[in-house]
Amino acid sequence: MAPTITGALELPRIVRLGPNLYGAAFTLMKLLPARHILDRADGEGRLEPGTVVIESTSGTFGLALAMECRLRGRALVLVSDPAVDPRLRRRLRDLGAAVDIVAEPASVGGYQQARLDRLAELRARHPRHFWPAQYSNPDNPGAYDVLAELLTSAIGRVDVLVGPVGSGGSMCGTAAALRAGVGDAVTAVAVDTPGSVLFGQRDAPRWIRGLGNSLMPPNLDHSAFDEVHWVSDREGFAATRALHRRHALYMGPTSGAAWMVASWKARAEPDRRVVVLLPDEGHRYQDTVYDDAWLRRQGLGLRRLPNRPVEVDAPDDGGPEWSWLRWDRRRFEAVVPRGAAA
Ligand SMILES: Cc1ncc(COP(=O)(O)O)c(C=O)c1O
Repeated sequence: MAPTITGALELPRIVRLGPNLYGAAFTLMKLLPARHILDRADGEGRLEPGTVVIESTSGTFGLALAMECRLRGRALVLVSDPAVDPRLRRRLRDLGAAVDIVAEPASVGGYQQARLDRLAELRARHPRHFWPAQYSNPDNPGAYDVLAELLTSAIGRVDVLVGPVGSGGSMCGTAAALRAGVGDAVTAVAVDTPGSVLFGQRDAPRWIRGLGNSLMPPNLDHSAFDEVHWVSDREGFAATRALHRRHALYMGPTSGAAWMVASWKARAEPDRRVVVLLPDEGHRYQDTVYDDAWLRRQGLGLRRLPNRPVEVDAPDDGGPEWSWLRWDRRRFEAVVPRGAAA
């Protein structure tokens, strides 16, 4: 039987980007956890006829949930903030999702905390609800077993996995599934951005959405990572354009940032096979990242991509430009002394 549109779109195209570099190019990576989380909830009897799905997101997970919920005929409320792209908002509404926008950021944790506060209010108001909780639900990382299988069958051995980290679901889930198959030798490289708390920096304003975070998601298993890279907004945006110009791959900025890191890794380790996760397409960023005038106006233009990152010894030393730290599969507390994190 032919799949539904979400089933047809959820797996990536595996493309060759260099002698030892492969990309997993998704239309919308978050379709994988959206379907898996709802399937599991359904299987456990947590989605009764009238149960409303409520989630906090201003990005691609909201879109994926809206597509899934539309197909399942299920009501969805998405809590978002004013930064949500108006075109995405129209698309979400077309799909029948109610979009609830919080007005003010919280004093600690910014809009993300304000959204979680609002989410708690809505959950109290709807006794019959299901909260997918992408930041803490183990079914988010658990959704990526199929990706590990696909990568292994498409290219054989994967030595290095590189990808952007937001909730941690995709990188931690895929790395765990690959290691379960071939052992611990698989290197996992996290791509974060300066001013994100995920790997121990202090929270600060950032342009790039999808990777980085103002709050620490329980789904981020720090001990999965061998390296962390902090890529600045301007580098990530310039890399996104370079990915398009060089490889005709029209992807979003988290893909560009990850590709820049993966290309360096592939050059540095020519005997190892590197795979990079490219989570979404470029259409949503047509008027920003793909618009030179917008980049200039925001002071985010960059003429040349850096060739290599600066190695640092501690998260505090990372940034403002591309830098990296040997994380060495340590727990967060082993790298960032208690009280030092924002
Ligand atoms: C465009 C984009 N890239 C990367 C990520 C990070 O993926 P994960 O949440 O699995 O860490 C996200 C997460 O929302 C995203 O929207």
